[in-house]
Amino acid sequence: MKDSLERIRKQFIEEVEALDNQKQLEEIRIKYLGKKGELTAVLRNMGSLSAEERPIIGQLANEVRDYMNEKIEDTAYVLKRKEVEVRLLTEFVDVTMPSKKQELGGRHPLSIVLDEIKDIFIGMGFSIAEGPEIEKAYYNFDALNHSAHHPARDMQDTFYITENVLLRTQTSPVQVRTMLKQDLPIRIIAPGRVFRADEIDATHSPMFHQVEGLVIDKGITMANLKGTLDTFAKKLYGEKTKTKFRPHHFPFTEPSAEVDCTCFACEGKGCRICKGSGWIEILGAGMVHPNVLRNCGIDPEVYSGFAFGMGLDRITMLRYGIDDLRLMFENDKRFLSQF
Ligand code: DAH
Repeated sequence: MKDSLERIRKQFIEEVEALDNQKQLEEIRIKYLGKKGELTAVLRNMGSLSAEERPIIGQLANEVRDYMNEKIEDTAYVLKRKEVEVRLLTEFVDVTMPSKKQELGGRHPLSIVLDEIKDIFIGMGFSIAEGPEIEKAYYNFDALNHSAHHPARDMQDTFYITENVLLRTQTSPVQVRTMLKQDLPIRIIAPGRVFRADEIDATHSPMFHQVEGLVIDKGITMANLKGTLDTFAKKLYGEKTKTKFRPHHFPFTEPSAEVDCTCFACEGKGCRICKGSGWIEILGAGMVHPNVLRNCGIDPEVYSGFAFGMGLDRITMLRYGIDDLRLMFENDKRFLSQF
């Protein structure tokens, strides 16, 4: 019996030393120490021994079992360490390797120019206002003094959602919303999308962008309007820029004007960008019509103000020499990566 215990131990040691993974170790454990294991069988046979032999063999058998358990535990630890080492080597990340190129997007030219415009007006004490793109016909037209038969209201020109709700055709309704809810004085610009039922071509799109402006206070005159817009044009296009007001008509301003500035490219000499005239038209403006003030609960005998509205797309196209409006909305990376 003693011999067979020693033989089992020797055989066990040989097998454990030859193995190289956890699965084999578990198989060996079962082979020797499992329910039907070789050592278990010996321990089970103790009953057949004589009273003198039993304690000696018993002690040896326990010793062999303890030895095996310990050896299995140690081996398991070593195997585990080895596995971790192998994983560290095979799953090694070389941080010095060149990485895959990440393609970074750029800012849209409209956003670049809009941010510049915002900065200029914020610098003059304006804040930024917003209004909904889906608007009430009342705010878009009626409150802005458009008569019931104004051509802009036509189904052909405007996207109606219902008879009284539409996609705003201009950012001017933000004027009305601001006057109705904000305390006086008011000094805001309101950038945003506007919509008109236009066929798409190089200069038209059913969706484009405007930046509206509104100032309401006591004693505001045309001089304030001229000073503000002249300062704006000089900041946007350079200190040498001059502005010119041409009489015009808008339902919500009186008097109204279209404002041109000297061409930033040729400084007024005449070139391709200004089509030889030396001037480029940048916006519409005027003194807020007393009817509009009244519609918004403001007394035109006490308060006055001016408003203006510019086409952001046009200003951006002029700035960068972009000759087709469609490029702005096509999301072509070859175009967008140039700014
Ligand atoms: N809303 C006008 C348009 O879409 C632009 C405009 C002109 C806005 C004069 C104004 C303004 O606030 O005073 O053509």
